[in-house]
Amino acid sequence: MADATGHITWRELWNSTADIVGDRVVARWLCETASGCDSAEFTAELSELVSARSGLHLDSMVRRVLDGEPVQYVMGRWAFRHLDLMVDSRVLIPRPETELLVDHVIHHVAKRPAPHVIADLGTGSGAIGLSLLQELPLGSAEVWMTDVSLDALDVARANAAGIGRPAASARFGHGSWCEGLPNELQGSIDVVVSNPPYIASDDPEIDDSVRFYEPHTALFSGSDGLHDIRVLTKEAVTWLSPGGMLIVEMGYTQAEQVLDIFVDAGFVGVVTHSDLAEKPRFTAGFLPR
Ligand SMILES: C[S@@+](CC[C@H](N)C(=O)[O-])C[C@H]1O[C@@H](n2cnc3c(N)ncnc32)[C@H](O)[C@@H]1O
Repeated sequence: MADATGHITWRELWNSTADIVGDRVVARWLCETASGCDSAEFTAELSELVSARSGLHLDSMVRRVLDGEPVQYVMGRWAFRHLDLMVDSRVLIPRPETELLVDHVIHHVAKRPAPHVIADLGTGSGAIGLSLLQELPLGSAEVWMTDVSLDALDVARANAAGIGRPAASARFGHGSWCEGLPNELQGSIDVVVSNPPYIASDDPEIDDSVRFYEPHTALFSGSDGLHDIRVLTKEAVTWLSPGGMLIVEMGYTQAEQVLDIFVDAGFVGVVTHSDLAEKPRFTAGFLPR
């Protein structure tokens, strides 16, 4: 493909890339990335000739996609709510269903006096915590983002730099679940939110592109997929303030078990919320007042 550059336009290269990768939308994303344009700029460039440098960049991205690497890692970015996040193999690719977790947190804190303290445990790219900082009124919440993976925290910090002023209220901690939080926060957190690993270690239904490319620390959680939810639910009790909320994402088959885990840990008002496909996807519970 690179040989043809200098002689062909972006429109022609987009068409031939679509034939190669078998997906017009993916081809468009790759061409936009190679051209350094956003979507609107790319439309204006369609009749321009492709430079050799852009052609080579596109060529190497196409090879990676054909090898099975997720297009999000190949592009190095992915959208989550209003954020354009940097993503690479150090972090899970943020999923659309997780976007709803942010709405539940915003809804809960709206009923409580500001300033709020929120903990996003297992933050990965920072998708949840940084969205909260960006969408809640400026300065109304301190958001702690923790992860057991130092690599993931590096990505979250880089993404925090991209959101500007709201990042002044971002806090980062390293450690397993609540161990990443400073002790003085015990008993004072308004919301603990987490999208923990929840896939059973021997789950046969995981796509190869997930199993081979995404970090296993972000995916797998013991033989039933519930090890991390058990641990963090037990720990969260000590860190939340009275009336505070724990909300986690889970597998759509895990709702009943997670509800029991929450009740056993002492949470009240435990509810299951569905995702956009109407599958049970989140469990929320409250610390008694
Ligand atoms: C499913 S990913 C979610 C990432 C991000 N919050 C999102 O929704 O896209 C789970 C995250 O939990 C982190 N994690 C796994 N085990 C952990 C532990 N014991 N303590 C803290 N974080 C952990 C992983 O490194 C990963 O970043």
